[in-house]
Amino acid sequence: MERTHPFERESRIIFLFWLESLPLEEQYSIWLSKAHQRVLPMPSSPIPRTAPFAEEEIEILNRVVGSASVTQRAWLAGFINGLDAASQPVSTSRTAEPLTILFASESGNCERLAADMAKTARKQGFKPTVIDMADVDVASLATVRRLAVIAATWGEGDPPARAVSAYADLMSEKAPRLDNLEFGVLALGDTAYAEFCAIGKAIDERLAALGGKRVVDRIDCDLDFAQPASRWIDQALKVFAPPTREPRGTVIEVDFTQHAAPAPLEMAEAEVIEHINLNSSRSEKETIHLELAFDGKAPAYQPGDSLDLFAKNDPAYVDALLQAAGLSFNDGLRIDLTDNRDVTTLSLRTIEAYAAATGHQQIKSLLASGEARGWIVGRQLIDLIETFQVPLSAEQLREIARPLAPRAYSIASSRREVGDEAHLLVSAVRYQSHGRARKGVASNYVAECLKKGSRVRVKLRPNRHFALPVQDRDIIMVGPGTGVAPFRAFLQERRATGANGRSWLFFGDRRFTHDFLYQLEWQEALKDAALTRMDVAFSRDAPRKLYVQHRIWQHRRDLVDWLEDGAYFYVCGDAKAMAKDVRNTLANAYADVKGLAPEVAEQAVRTLERERRYLQDVY
Ligand SMILES: Cc1cc2nc3c(=O)[nH]c(=O)nc-3n(C[C@H](O)[C@H](O)[C@H](O)COP(=O)(O)OP(=O)(O)OC[C@H]3O[C@@H](n4cnc5c(N)ncnc54)[C@H](O)[C@@H]3O)c2cc1C
Ligand SMILES: Cc1cc2nc3c(=O)[nH]c(=O)nc-3n(C[C@H](O)[C@H](O)[C@H](O)COP(=O)(O)O)c2cc1C
Repeated sequence: MERTHPFERESRIIFLFWLESLPLEEQYSIWLSKAHQRVLPMPSSPIPRTAPFAEEEIEILNRVVGSASVTQRAWLAGFINGLDAASQPVSTSRTAEPLTILFASESGNCERLAADMAKTARKQGFKPTVIDMADVDVASLATVRRLAVIAATWGEGDPPARAVSAYADLMSEKAPRLDNLEFGVLALGDTAYAEFCAIGKAIDERLAALGGKRVVDRIDCDLDFAQPASRWIDQALKVFAPPTREPRGTVIEVDFTQHAAPAPLEMAEAEVIEHINLNSSRSEKETIHLELAFDGKAPAYQPGDSLDLFAKNDPAYVDALLQAAGLSFNDGLRIDLTDNRDVTTLSLRTIEAYAAATGHQQIKSLLASGEARGWIVGRQLIDLIETFQVPLSAEQLREIARPLAPRAYSIASSRREVGDEAHLLVSAVRYQSHGRARKGVASNYVAECLKKGSRVRVKLRPNRHFALPVQDRDIIMVGPGTGVAPFRAFLQERRATGANGRSWLFFGDRRFTHDFLYQLEWQEALKDAALTRMDVAFSRDAPRKLYVQHRIWQHRRDLVDWLEDGAYFYVCGDAKAMAKDVRNTLANAYADVKGLAPEVAEQAVRTLERERRYLQDVY
């Protein structure tokens, strides 16, 4: 009987864990049945004349290998590897010790690091299990012996959306004692946020409080986490490795993982082929519809993915900064700061670095008194340098400014409709604070510097947790402002694939006449039935503010009906207020429509989250 893979949506990683649990022969045949698709026909004499063998040996080898089946060749490869391994002392770490790697991730960084760690761990002889915090039953941690946690912080010091429930359980009285646990935590965050790495820190403390033994010290990583994270992983694996044992014999091992590693995501260059402000000239906002055409093939994106865009700083801002630091003459520094350094973000770390570099007494006392935290709110690097002026060296200024990170933008197109293009929807961030006009770096780079014909560097940021369901499922999409971007991609995809599930869009912005992004496209979609229903909320058109959550409440009966029929609920856009309000409104809608107590209604929303039918991509 044919053995079928038990997971409906095959994740390569899960597949490998499942594969590993089978006897070796079965592993071979299942893996090979997948590998077959990639195997090219074997030439009849595959061993070249240049191989380091005598001519008659090459002939014999060709007779054997040339006619061998795929299974036989894989067996040979594994066997020869094993022979080599047998002549070496058996590696001390190759004892298949279990290691649990738990990740809490929203935009995929921690998830990718967890997969990397598992891959390295497997090579070193561990038997790693990677678990998304979304799926963990906290009680089960009591049976875990070695645990690596890789956790991101979101919102304003919150856990990633999918991890909220498990995180709450871990912090509650439900959490088990963990006296047999050895653990280490790798925290990811962004120093620009006041609650830097709050979730990693809290998990680290909680695991220790529950009796776990911290065997690897936590590190808190900023956006440039690649190197410190990789060092932490190496160190953690060394520490988690059990003490050296006597060699127990020969292990013949085929590294299946090399076939499972996702292709590294490459930086791509694209040309701007369309650049349109979708707001009217009388709007206070500027939202750019940007069309990018790639030189070769577009990155293999799916609806729901984003692109990381690599922007440059505003030269006027860099000039002002150089002037304040007394470094206007330094053209090399000007270029470096413009292209590569984050010259706007002001964080506690920046202030600490500035105090250390300059020894400035006033800054030291600002830090010592704890006032620095409040002082940085609404301020940028230039405020620090202008307020506490000290002549700086180029090196000092470069050191204070962290590397310039790319910014993510949801892809607003489907490749089925636009081919090798990708469309983005970018809202220019502009505001006033402390008497100064401020501009977001990347959004204004898009709005003010890019134009038709400009070139821009981007990198795919996949998000398999915000993907379309199967074609006949209904979808409800809540996307005010730029939150609507991925839903344009969803509708293009559904139209192109002839999906028969219903779709319902909630959109909102400030004013109907000036801010109705992609208005004509939604009308077309309603006409050709790619979109079944649309409800809009324009907050500034009426005396009382009207938001998408008010529309959700207004149509709660239909909405709960759709969800009861299996619809998927998507939310994209503002994380600070909108996403929370929408979630609360949905819980209230359940309570009202079905006559549930608030706790039971909350459970209904949690069930949607657990079933991965309540999906968020918020920022
Ligand atoms: C997965 C994902 C998808 C995204 N998709 C989109 C998208 O489709 N479209 C889109 O436009 N954006 C999107 N974003 C947001 C985008 O990545 C950027 O964060 C946004 O464009 C701002 O970047 P910036 O470089 O222009 O601003 P930055 O230079 O990063 O400045 C932003 C910072 O300025 C400060 N700030 C902003 N407004 C104020 C204010 N009123 N008062 C005080 N301080 C303020 C805050 O500290 C804020 O963090 C997405 C983000 C993520 C994570
Ligand atoms: C909207 C948003 C909110 C964030 N909030 C915080 C925060 O409060 N504290 C922090 O340290 N990092 C914060 N971050 C940074 C993320 O933790 C960081 O980007 C991390 O690498 C994301 O990891 P992930 O891709 O695994 O989710 C935030 C990022 C975004 C986009």
